[in-house]
Amino acid sequence: MRQAGRYLPEFRSIRKDNQDFIKLCLNTKLSSEITLQPIIRFNFDAAIVFSDILLIPHALGQQVNFKKDFGPELQKIDFEIFNNVRKEDFLEKLNPVYEIIKETKNKLSIDNKDTIGFVGAPWTLLLYMLNRKSPKEGNFNVFQKDRNIHNILDKLDEFLKIHIEEQIKSGASIIQIFDSWAGLLPEKDLEFFSYKPIKSLVDFIRQKKSISICFPRNINNYKKFVENVNPDVINIDYNIDPLIIRDTIDITVQGGLDPKILLQNKDIMRDEVTKYLKTFDKKRYIFNLGHGVLPNTDPDMVKYLVDVVRSFNGQ
Ligand code: CP3
Repeated sequence: MRQAGRYLPEFRSIRKDNQDFIKLCLNTKLSSEITLQPIIRFNFDAAIVFSDILLIPHALGQQVNFKKDFGPELQKIDFEIFNNVRKEDFLEKLNPVYEIIKETKNKLSIDNKDTIGFVGAPWTLLLYMLNRKSPKEGNFNVFQKDRNIHNILDKLDEFLKIHIEEQIKSGASIIQIFDSWAGLLPEKDLEFFSYKPIKSLVDFIRQKKSISICFPRNINNYKKFVENVNPDVINIDYNIDPLIIRDTIDITVQGGLDPKILLQNKDIMRDEVTKYLKTFDKKRYIFNLGHGVLPNTDPDMVKYLVDVVRSFNGQ
């Protein structure tokens, strides 16, 4: 999950002087620093590179802006540009991301910590690219008639693989795939828009001898997702009952805790964290949240959460 960000004063201090979010993501020096901020503060076991899934539309020629109190805003796709992007130009635009990974890996390998690279899943990216802002429930039907869907999904498959391969080459030992809007898809469309395109990426990651973690947020049937996509690790969201996951899924599970629990008091948080740790005690489980840390989270609560997880002894 996102671990850097606005809940950290040291992030806000850099962000204040860097209003252009895309530019900040492509600033090797600052983004390397931001990547390490949560590791320095909390000593997490792994770092997720500071970047964004929307750098892909950006590198494919679609303008992306992050507006304050609004989120991302994308310009219309210019298919003249989009259909003619060359691999070399794409890689040149995203080169700072690979430099950030190299730098992070160098710093973390001393402590034997992994560097996690990531991509947005094709469906989630398609949604941002056509909707041009964060989607709300129910506006999906508009897209089914869009004649460009196949073209966009093919391009994303091609360029996401290029981006994944370069992240692995630069030192990312794990690739997380965020399908943050999988939960908007009706059951009948999951196969075409989510399982199939993600499986193509998971197979590619395996072929490159790396590890995949999938996060199909808010879907109802994780068992079916895992059977169809076959990732190495499945990151669950906080709406799914962890007991169902424990009893139906055999691969390594990650995450689940509702980030809103970090806004409660320490006792409530300890109980909730312990619930997840106990549920998965006999299973392969990586503690994590069910979505990113919320901006109004007190960093001390994150520190306490790490203490609770580290001191858990299965009782
Ligand atoms: O912690 C880290 O270092 C990881 C970095 C990371 C970011 N985005 C940085 C970011 C990761 C892994 C992402 C992934 C991402 N980006 C997703 C998938 C994960 C998820 O949360 O569902 C999505 C959907 C995006 C697209 C995106 N980026 C949105 C919708 C927004 C605006 C909403 C928001 O929370 O502000 C962003 C901005 C963004 N990406 C921020 C950060 C730290 C906030 C930047 C700021 O306003 O200062």
